[in-house]
Amino acid sequence: MRSVIDIKDLSKEEIAELVSISEDIISNPQKYAHKCDGKKLATLFFEPSTRTRLSFEAAMYELGGNVLSMSDSASSSASKGESVADTAKVISCYADIIAMRHPKEGAPMVASMNSTVPVINAGDGGHNHPTQTLTDLLTIHREKGRFDNLTVGLCGDLKFGRTVHSLISALTRYEGIKFVLISPEELKVPSYVKNTIKENGLEYKQTTDLMSVLPELDILYMTRVQRERFFNEEDYLRLKDSYVLTPEKLESAKIDLSIMHPLPRVNEISVAVDNDPRACYFRQALNGKYIRMALILKLLEVE
Ligand code: CP
Repeated sequence: MRSVIDIKDLSKEEIAELVSISEDIISNPQKYAHKCDGKKLATLFFEPSTRTRLSFEAAMYELGGNVLSMSDSASSSASKGESVADTAKVISCYADIIAMRHPKEGAPMVASMNSTVPVINAGDGGHNHPTQTLTDLLTIHREKGRFDNLTVGLCGDLKFGRTVHSLISALTRYEGIKFVLISPEELKVPSYVKNTIKENGLEYKQTTDLMSVLPELDILYMTRVQRERFFNEEDYLRLKDSYVLTPEKLESAKIDLSIMHPLPRVNEISVAVDNDPRACYFRQALNGKYIRMALILKLLEVE
């Protein structure tokens, strides 16, 4: 029985396998329509979500399985003080696999240590979001056809952005990746994430100025400044519109730039950018369903 708490719980070879299964699901959905007949996925979300929870649920339905959904911690016994460990022990009695999002870093790990069924981390605080990273990797593969030799700009809240931390961790396993870390001073990437880049012998540079680096990027991964991670509303209001991508700004970008965003967006990408063929964030959201289908199959050991 395996859980996925961190993207590094999956080897590079397993990620390649998940990408390949996702491509096959996209080409032959009928082949997978009954793979999880009789199986149940529990989605335990102690923090708001649109894409992750609903794409997990759509994934399980498209595999022929069923879903037990907890989308509001206030209506669960967590509001009466039940621990994550006890919740995991109990839900293991009802479901074959669990996807958990929690505001506290490490909560899905605690759940996995107390569950008798696989637990998937669907985002824990400002820490990790491995299935978003799988989504991002499938998107990079579909848009670029490779993972190696790419200049990847990550822009916005690089301090609290768990999607950024997981994606950097995943990409450090590939050759010739150059990271360009674009953020306000206050939202720079944590040292432990930079250390991972250095330990893998890859290049990175940090800047506050998106426009000065935009022309060199193959991928621009925009992120939202997350109101819910700030202790101080004043700081949030000061930083929230640090970067706003517009069609005018994109004039200096490569013709084959891929603009990604884990979503939700607030102001950081103008809606006028949505019609640009380089904008792949809605294709990215769709990819999230396919890669989660592949991951469910793998963790449930379905042939
Ligand atoms: N990308 C992402 O995690 O979106 P949700 O918060 O809507 O799940």
